[in-house]
Amino acid sequence: MTHFTYRNGEFHAEDVPLSRIAAEVGTPFYCYASAALEEHYRAFAEAFAAMPALICYALKANSNQAVIATLAAAGAGADVVSEGELRRAMAAGVPASRIVFSGVGKTAGEMALALAAGIHQFNVESEPELHSLSAVAQSLGKIAPITIRVNPDIDARTHAKISTGKAENKFGVPWQRARAVYRQAAALPGLKIVGVDVHIGSQLTELGPFEAAFTRVAALVAELRADGHDITRLDLGGGLGIPYEAGQQPPSPADYAAMIRRVTGHLGCALVLEPGRRLVGDAGVLVAQVLYVKASERKTFVILDAAMNDLIRPSLYDAWHDIVPLRKPAADAPYQVVDIVGPVCESGDTLATDRRLPSLVKGDLVAIRSAGAYGAVMASTYNTRPLVPEVLVKGEGFALVRPRPSYADLLGLDRLPPWLDGAAGAASAAGAASASSTASAAGTASIPGTASAAAPLALRHPAATPPPKILRT
Ligand code: LLP
Repeated sequence: MTHFTYRNGEFHAEDVPLSRIAAEVGTPFYCYASAALEEHYRAFAEAFAAMPALICYALKANSNQAVIATLAAAGAGADVVSEGELRRAMAAGVPASRIVFSGVGKTAGEMALALAAGIHQFNVESEPELHSLSAVAQSLGKIAPITIRVNPDIDARTHAKISTGKAENKFGVPWQRARAVYRQAAALPGLKIVGVDVHIGSQLTELGPFEAAFTRVAALVAELRADGHDITRLDLGGGLGIPYEAGQQPPSPADYAAMIRRVTGHLGCALVLEPGRRLVGDAGVLVAQVLYVKASERKTFVILDAAMNDLIRPSLYDAWHDIVPLRKPAADAPYQVVDIVGPVCESGDTLATDRRLPSLVKGDLVAIRSAGAYGAVMASTYNTRPLVPEVLVKGEGFALVRPRPSYADLLGLDRLPPWLDGAAGAASAAGAASASSTASAAGTASIPGTASAAAPLALRHPAATPPPKILRT
């Protein structure tokens, strides 16, 4: 069931009208429903209840600590791909023993941190990585538990940019060479082989590609065992899709689990699963306000205060996200075909193209649905737009789980080198003279509601920060 519904004509997250959050937090904002996170985790966990499975939530989908903590409380471990994600997982209460570390480019520092923490396993993606990890482990007097990610050369039949299991993709080692790579790993002193890992892509909407890949992996396990390796774990990655559009019906976790049991059950391996989108995608919306409706000869553009920098999936993958007004349209409301766009200065800043929607007017609030996965985490400050705040709802309550950064936060990350420090003052004088540009009014003015007295608009390196060295040739 969805936890985002109309009640009394108002779109709600659980028991909270989203317009109430908008009034308090301002727009745009992301909103997640705890009940949806819990329900999706439960459905996944129940599907695998009869199998020895560790469900490691793929943090990359949504790494807000409140989201991680909600899933961890429900029983999830974590799949991480960077030091930052490892830190977030542990900070949100996931025990290291339930964390797996994936990714093609782990640094020695990241390996050392994960080894010191005592994570469940490293999913290694190349021969050079095997050597690095072994060396780091040895230097710390540790043994790293590893799987090797194999690339089964299977078409996941998903968007090319999120397909990872084809020979031309950068991921894993080619399955034909897997035995040779395992032989190398077995000879390295800092490693202990525990299993095989595979992940062929994201937003898969059919079981066929999974089954083809897992069948190949199961055959490989038999060969590796015959070669003398002690293979006790299978990490089958993530990738199970969600319905973004009416009519889409990706396989259920139960069907997915039944297929896995049929294809790999005879191996007696412990399973690791890395679902991301399936747990959080449908559990979040992006709420935005209509700034303007602009009709041109060819098109009508609805310009929102949310943009591609806040939710990049439509621009990057031509992804579809349902968009609904927060106030339920009357049964006889007029409809219009519109492009939903943001304020960013690119034609690619489009959230929906030729979308038939109830007519919208300035000030209307809308929810962009299924934005819980790969939404906030992929946001940027492009066009110097502050990151969008995140809100977590639980029943009748809600909490701001990441506030909107202030402009002082955003601008304060920049530093002027000493050779430009005077220039800021000069710009300030020029700005004051022309009284035209906000940025050039540095140090002499503040914009109401944006910069606090403690954070003047002037760009200077704070006294505490040593000025950067000037490089001379
Ligand atoms: N495990 C590994 C090794 C992965 O690379 C991924 C996703 C997952 C698990 C989780 O996959 P999921 O269950 O969420 O499909 N930004 C794209 C999706 C990129 C997925 C990257 N890897 C999007 O917005 O569609």
